[in-house]
Amino acid sequence: MYPSAIPSFLQVLLLFLLFFRTAEANVTVYDYAGPVTTSVSGVQPAYTGLQAYNPIVLNAPPLPTPSPANTFNINLRAAPPPGLSIKINGSFFGFSIEFSVLNQVLGYNSSVLMVPFLNLMANIRDRAGAIHIRVGGNTQETASMVDSLPNGEILSKDNSDTNNPTKTPPLVFTDDVIYMMANISALVNVYWFMGIPFNDTSDFRLQIAEKGQAILGPYLVGLQVGNEPDLYAKHFRRPANYSPAGYFSDFGLLVNAVKADPLITNPNMLIGPNLAGTWTPEMIWDTGFQNTYQSELSALAVERYPTDNCFSRYGYGVFHDAQQEFANYMTHASAQNILKSYLNSSTVAQSVNKPLLMFETNSASCGGFPGIADAFGAALWGLDYALQLAYSNFSIAMFHSSGQNVSYQPFTPAPTAQSFFHQWTIGPIYYAALIAAEVISSSNNAQVIDLLPNNASPSSPAYAIYENGNMVRVALFNYLSDDPTGNSAYTATISVGGSATGEQNETPASVKVKYLLADSVTTKGNITWANQTFGGYFASDGRLQGDEVIETVNCDTNANTCQIKVPAPGFALVFFTDNALGESENTAQQTFATTVQTRTRNTATINLDTLATSNGGRGMTDRMGSTSPESNLARGKSQALPSLLALAGFIWGGLTIRRML
Ligand SMILES: *[C@@H]1O[C@H](CO)[C@@H](O)[C@H](O)[C@H]1NC(C)=O
Ligand SMILES: *[C@@H]1O[C@H](CO)[C@@H](O)[C@H](O)[C@H]1NC(C)=O
Ligand SMILES: *[C@@H]1O[C@H](CO)[C@@H](O)[C@H](O)[C@H]1NC(C)=O
Ligand SMILES: *[C@@H]1O[C@H](CO)[C@@H](O)[C@H](O)[C@H]1NC(C)=O
Ligand SMILES: *[C@@H]1O[C@H](CO)[C@@H](O)[C@H](O)[C@H]1NC(C)=O
Ligand SMILES: *[C@@H]1O[C@H](CO)[C@@H](O)[C@H](O)[C@H]1NC(C)=O
Ligand SMILES: *[C@@H]1O[C@H](CO)[C@@H](O)[C@H](O)[C@H]1NC(C)=O
Ligand SMILES: *[C@@H]1O[C@H](CO)[C@@H](O)[C@H](O)[C@H]1NC(C)=O
Ligand SMILES: *[C@@H]1O[C@H](CO)[C@@H](O)[C@H](O)[C@H]1NC(C)=O
Ligand SMILES: *[C@@H]1O[C@H](CO)[C@@H](O)[C@H](O)[C@H]1NC(C)=O
Repeated sequence: MYPSAIPSFLQVLLLFLLFFRTAEANVTVYDYAGPVTTSVSGVQPAYTGLQAYNPIVLNAPPLPTPSPANTFNINLRAAPPPGLSIKINGSFFGFSIEFSVLNQVLGYNSSVLMVPFLNLMANIRDRAGAIHIRVGGNTQETASMVDSLPNGEILSKDNSDTNNPTKTPPLVFTDDVIYMMANISALVNVYWFMGIPFNDTSDFRLQIAEKGQAILGPYLVGLQVGNEPDLYAKHFRRPANYSPAGYFSDFGLLVNAVKADPLITNPNMLIGPNLAGTWTPEMIWDTGFQNTYQSELSALAVERYPTDNCFSRYGYGVFHDAQQEFANYMTHASAQNILKSYLNSSTVAQSVNKPLLMFETNSASCGGFPGIADAFGAALWGLDYALQLAYSNFSIAMFHSSGQNVSYQPFTPAPTAQSFFHQWTIGPIYYAALIAAEVISSSNNAQVIDLLPNNASPSSPAYAIYENGNMVRVALFNYLSDDPTGNSAYTATISVGGSATGEQNETPASVKVKYLLADSVTTKGNITWANQTFGGYFASDGRLQGDEVIETVNCDTNANTCQIKVPAPGFALVFFTDNALGESENTAQQTFATTVQTRTRNTATINLDTLATSNGGRGMTDRMGSTSPESNLARGKSQALPSLLALAGFIWGGLTIRRML
């Protein structure tokens, strides 16, 4: 009845047998979450499968009373106003990937990369020019590099450390992890941060720095020293009285070790203090850290989750009810409250000429709240928070991903072999990343300002972007949702310069607008950006699907105003010049077919025309081996995959996870 489905299923099976013949039984998903407490009634979620696919839908937060005005003016300065951020690079919004899941997300090894991952990175590279990824997390502290692992594995977890309250296993890895990262960089321009294991100051295991610098070269941009040292005492990694002074002196021990290691060519790419928020950054600045280690530091960094879901996951801390928490995210006050305690630190960072990085973040720690972290509201929240970070003079913000059993995943590799081509699940945080890349753009000159329109209503935040002295883009949010009257949609009347500011009028005759939309802040899966989507669960090969729709709004050339409507809920990005649109979006997108590249040609290339028209890869269902070897020189965009077996992510995790669904 469906003849094409049969070869495709057999292909999947064959590939599975081929690649996991020996490692099959070791392809397991680690229990990151640990046991769920059952002692408090009403806490245990009814759903017991993997959290990345938790179907729970919460109620949208109630509409505010009185309702904020649904028409208001935004009179923008044509010349850069006071209070602009420092210049922000397009690669501002990056990702943090827990070390222990690298071989689920990036690839099986340096020869077998996950094609959906490459596509997801290519999408951002095409808008921002580059991507930053931090690999690390709790697992980095006790990680050790080894020469080889059984069965050709590159990463392996050891669950013997039962005292570790973060439930993250000590892990061992081979340098092939770093070759895998290098091969990804060569394809999609990813720049990496890694972390030096810091559990043992008498034996820093520096191989990650040695090999990282040797293999990644300029693609390694920083080495984290200590992940959340303010939680070390709580996690039994240091004595109970561990203090900022202790971190200051441990950092000095590492500086000396790095300088004494002839295999480390650049000892001056260290990053600290990476606090979780238990100590204030000022407690570290007051030790003189940023001055004492100024030449060894490449950046200052902090980590922060606005709240936690640890009680529901591990049974410790304070219980937070997700339904109650939802309203705390659907407001500009969330981003403002998180960032206000770091404004002094961004001034400190500027005073020592270091970028300040948000090294690891997401909506809530311990996996985020199901129903918030994985719903449309999180896309609005993540984008608002990212732009607030930029406005607050952070230079890079990396959103965390830690496996199948968390809710805040930007992207989740497929657990089943149901579908040949569409198999990853793309979360709302990835939409935020994609759009942040367009808001900030590849110009690397963006300066961001928080506009606080409509009497600073927390429901309708807005930002303007200036580049080289010109106002180029405006980002408009509407957090309101589920209003059957339709009155919560708003219209912003925007002018640039002119009588409102006493400057020459610079309002254009028309603007271009792209919308981020879903029916409700509670919606899962059905999110569109300029009418394109990555679909719902298991629906994506990492490429946008559907036809892009960019609206043209004609402005009132008598009043010199442009009226922009923003649905509730929704987000609009308004481009004031064609150049402002062009530098946000490289239309000649390079993506990767979800198929297998073999070593039969050592310079296999991807035929971009085939990809561009293949509509998600369906047209290639019957093709195994490689795509057409011809490169399309006319487009000038063909990209080589040297000596690379590129394999789709659909097999990953295979049968082990399918059983649980
Ligand atoms: C990478 O993994 C594939 C699939 O298991 C295997 O065939 C190949 O030999 C591995 N390559 C390396 C360099 O280990
Ligand atoms: C799983 O890995 C362990 C060691 O990492 C190895 O001893 C064992 O043979 C592997 N199992 C299979 C089925 O490959
Ligand atoms: C996923 O997390 C839940 C709790 O949130 C837990 O009950 C379940 O055992 C975990 N599943 C796996 C496969 O780790
Ligand atoms: C921003 O990009 C410039 C190159 O355009 C680079 O020199 C600089 O290091 C980047 N900043 C960050 C924080 O990555
Ligand atoms: C640090 O971690 C390594 C690898 O897990 C372990 O062998 C070592 O004993 C640990 N050191 C301390 C002081 O905990
Ligand atoms: C890709 O990885 C292999 C190791 O398997 C390495 O030999 C090769 O140089 C890497 N290619 C790039 C471009 O880094
Ligand atoms: C900013 O941080 C510095 C260094 O810790 C501290 O001396 C100063 O008091 C702080 N300023 C504010 C306003 O918090
Ligand atoms: C960001 O830095 C710029 C330049 O130092 C400064 O003018 C601006 O006030 C800072 N922004 C915030 C929110 O502190
Ligand atoms: C998906 O969302 C769009 C935009 O909100 C809406 O028009 C469409 O009806 C939705 N589709 C489904 C299947 O819910
Ligand atoms: C939006 O994309 C869909 C395909 O996903 C297409 O059918 C539809 O025509 C597009 N909408 C517009 C207005 O072009």
